[in-house]
Amino acid sequence: MKKITLCIAGGGSTHTPGIVRTLLNNIEKFPVKTIRLYDIDAEKNDDMYVIIKYMLKQQGLNGIEVMKTEIPKEAFEGCDFIFSQIRVGGFKMREQDEKIPLRHGLVGQETCGLGGFAYGLRSMGGFLKMMSYIQEFAPEAWVLNYTNPESIIAESVRRRFPNAKIINACDMTIGIEEVLGNTFGYDSKDWIPEYYGLNHFGWYKSIYDIASQKDIMPELIDKIIENGIHWDRAGESWKKAYYMMGHMVKVFPSNIPNNYLEYYLFPDMAIDGEDVSYTRANAIMDGRVKELKEKADMIRKDHERTDIDFGSGVHGQYIVDMASSILNNLNMRFKVIVPNKGAIPNLRQDAVVEVPAYVNAKGAEPISFREDIPDFHKGLMEAQVAAEKLLVDAFFEKSYQKALQAFTLNQSVPSARIAKQILDEMIIANEGYWPELK
Ligand code: G6P
Ligand code: MN
Repeated sequence: MKKITLCIAGGGSTHTPGIVRTLLNNIEKFPVKTIRLYDIDAEKNDDMYVIIKYMLKQQGLNGIEVMKTEIPKEAFEGCDFIFSQIRVGGFKMREQDEKIPLRHGLVGQETCGLGGFAYGLRSMGGFLKMMSYIQEFAPEAWVLNYTNPESIIAESVRRRFPNAKIINACDMTIGIEEVLGNTFGYDSKDWIPEYYGLNHFGWYKSIYDIASQKDIMPELIDKIIENGIHWDRAGESWKKAYYMMGHMVKVFPSNIPNNYLEYYLFPDMAIDGEDVSYTRANAIMDGRVKELKEKADMIRKDHERTDIDFGSGVHGQYIVDMASSILNNLNMRFKVIVPNKGAIPNLRQDAVVEVPAYVNAKGAEPISFREDIPDFHKGLMEAQVAAEKLLVDAFFEKSYQKALQAFTLNQSVPSARIAKQILDEMIIANEGYWPELK
């Protein structure tokens, strides 16, 4: 089997150890020979380099090479796969995305509402630049992308690099399935879910359970209505997210929604109790960012120690499984973010949607739904698609007017007055990251 050269773009991310742990546990299916860590933040990249070296030693896998670089050519040339998790502006700018809208009484969130749009205008620039390096140095490599906000990134890549070998994917649905399976006593690995939407903006249509040979979504909905969803293994903000997901099922019991819909359907409840001076970005900087930095320093101080552990989860598993499904032509099923082109028949064809797909040596082959989706979901999605498209227009055309239209149309925004205030504030906060809007 061919030995694989993999680049993790955004190597300094806190998700890197989890991805590498999964890689090391799946070496038979995905025989990685070289891991390259690419990041513009040399210090964070070095922390992860130290950690990955340690993990390789701990697991006795000294045959795998690892290198780190800030230079695109060194990172991409000769690569077979690139996993992207770059975050343009880092957690410092995520903090701004969350806090600016919150100060105006609106949802302040990393990928949803106006925070997501601010991040989108930053992220497209960095991501498209990276894609142009990849087109130059490794046009044959597969890019598996986790960089957010994914619908906006996917739309911009569709316009600029329509033939790029990229699969955009999000681990949220697999995460939801694991939580629901664990909570209500199923093995979610035995599920064949039907799901449609935009990224962080969709619904389950059915969930076929192989063991019981039926769609178990109706019984899951009954259980959620009766018990709610209690999930406190990942901290307060995820506990609240799953609580809100349970709430959405109670109010709209036809389908199980993606948890992120809370920011559009119940923005008032979503911001209730949020602290404008300490948001999720702060919790992460004080939590996993700090913790990994400390662990890297512990390893630097004592190269002999072997007692520090780095786990993995669905996030790493999903992307490694997808790469393995391409490499070994396995036709495994994932949710991917792709141009609609008929997958959802009654939604505009040029929308970028998130739907199930089989992934094989050719890439992603999306599944087409034969039935129209309901007007409630379609209406919400159409507005969101239009807002996202306007934002991508604003980026390419450097248009203030298009950005303002996008901000106004975002369904977390009640007034064009507030949209304009926030836009103007965000232009200042994002100086050097956003295109200059005229
Ligand atoms: C899920 C989503 C990602 C998102 C992450 C945020 O995994 O699918 O798109 O970035 O949650 O998690 P965090 O711990 O950074 O708030
Ligand atoms: Mn996601």
